[in-house]
Amino acid sequence: LAGFLAGIDAGQAPLPRVDAPARASEPLTILFASESGNAERLAQDVAKLARKDGFKPKIVDFADLDVADLPQHGKLVVIAATWGEGEPPGRAARAYAALMGPSAPRLEGTSFAVLALGDTAYAEFCGVGKALDARLAELGAVRAADRVDCDLDFEAPAAAWIKTTLAAFAPAQESPAQESSGNVVSVDFGPRVSVEPSRDAVIGEVIEHVNLSSSRSDKETIHLALGFDGAAPAYEPGDALELFPENDPALVDAVLAATGLQADDSLRTTLTTERDITTLAVKTLETFAAETGHAELRRLLDEGQARSWIDGRQFIDLVEAYPVTLTAQQLTALTRPLPPRAYSIASSRREVGDEAHLLIAAVRYEAHGRVRRGVASTFVADRLKAGAAARVRLKPNKHFRLPEPSTDIIMIGPGTGIAPFRAFVQERRALGAGGRSWLFFGDRRYTHDFLYQLEWQDALRDGSLARLDLAFSRDTPQKVYVQHRLWEQRRDLVDWLDNGAQVYVCGDAKAMAKDVRAALVAAFADVKALSPEAAEHAVTELERGRRYHQDVY
Ligand code: 2AM
Repeated sequence: LAGFLAGIDAGQAPLPRVDAPARASEPLTILFASESGNAERLAQDVAKLARKDGFKPKIVDFADLDVADLPQHGKLVVIAATWGEGEPPGRAARAYAALMGPSAPRLEGTSFAVLALGDTAYAEFCGVGKALDARLAELGAVRAADRVDCDLDFEAPAAAWIKTTLAAFAPAQESPAQESSGNVVSVDFGPRVSVEPSRDAVIGEVIEHVNLSSSRSDKETIHLALGFDGAAPAYEPGDALELFPENDPALVDAVLAATGLQADDSLRTTLTTERDITTLAVKTLETFAAETGHAELRRLLDEGQARSWIDGRQFIDLVEAYPVTLTAQQLTALTRPLPPRAYSIASSRREVGDEAHLLIAAVRYEAHGRVRRGVASTFVADRLKAGAAARVRLKPNKHFRLPEPSTDIIMIGPGTGIAPFRAFVQERRALGAGGRSWLFFGDRRYTHDFLYQLEWQDALRDGSLARLDLAFSRDTPQKVYVQHRLWEQRRDLVDWLDNGAQVYVCGDAKAMAKDVRAALVAAFADVKALSPEAAEHAVTELERGRRYHQDVY
């Protein structure tokens, strides 16, 4: 309450001039909320350019932000990623909640600009950036530049936004900074921005393509080994590789047929390798309705039914439901660039040398009477066979790194979440690490889905794995998940943590990661006889101390 009252006091202070000339080395705070590292990398880009422009930039991770300190930052650049269905990145969640909550400080002395990162495939596109933009203004801060909302092809719009924003914050002599209109420039679409999706991409040859799930499993999990012929990306355990997929040729044909386009080779290649011909966003429907004048589709949009119509549908459903003849340009304008997909690397260079291994679960399901195939995962499963060339790019993840070799680690990775832990165990074995390694793995059935089973058993024998706990969910009438095993082992778990162990969680973000965290809170509460609040605090302390790491998707 004290903070809130102080905030009201601050609210009565006169508004500072935001267009005062900047002194040399004007402080500029760059606050980022990042999950996969894109927002963090952009924050570094901003800092670099800001320094050139005479600012003294300071980068702050939301994970380290004390919201009460915010009023100290006069000029604030915010780069925020939205995760899943409109959520903040995991590490940013605590400070984000504080900023949204009732005790956030007033910010009359602050000028700000927000860059929002997101994915139009999800309902709450750029939800976190939008909310932050609105909240900062609500707290009295002055918007120095308009927010820009970026889709997965964020490079070009982000670069443009950085330029505009730094100019808006810069010395006012030549161009007085004006309070922004609050308009949002949405650049989530299209061909108008030229991006270089293959920047830094390298080619790996598929040297192994094995389905690790048994033939009787209802899953299909591909172990993909890529060879680089002397030029493997310099990856560390915990890093990911982005893979540039190609669309299913049958789907390309279907889209061409439905849009009445002549299938010349160049268009076919563009649609196969460069355009996202599956994702549907409300914006796609808007553009489609505008371009084609489909009255029925217009009505759907006007009645606010677009979101529910899109649910489970893809681009092909749109062009088949509302048949029309398009030009190649129109088709390009209706689709976004085909984004690469990131997969955690499942190998250590110390063990596999010039290779990188990936573990990829093929996504196939049926919706609205049509078989749907995950773009990248079924490209890998069905078409990227041994001998094929894979275009990949290193995506470092410095928040998912091994600790000192002498530190114990607890790894929790059901399903393909196991991937980075294979890299961890390989690395620690090669290093002769002294710390103990404990792995929790779960999947559907022991006989069908025990990924890398023989390797784990070898690792237990040679000591590179100290413990292995398994949770097969469909072998018993009652589901058993990794968090149930955590709970059963809570005494040892807390003992390891008291001994300085670090925790790593990889896999499903929606349910698993949250359930695992809750299990850890419950374990602390039970073993140490703590109140729920104190146990929650213990886990928050692990997170703040960088001892609780998540790589979730
Ligand atoms: P299920 O599919 O039988 O429900 C890898 O996908 C494993 O994670 C599967 O065994 C799956 O179980 C399990 N899983 C599903 N939801 C989970 C959750 N909330 N927490 C932990 N594991 C979960």
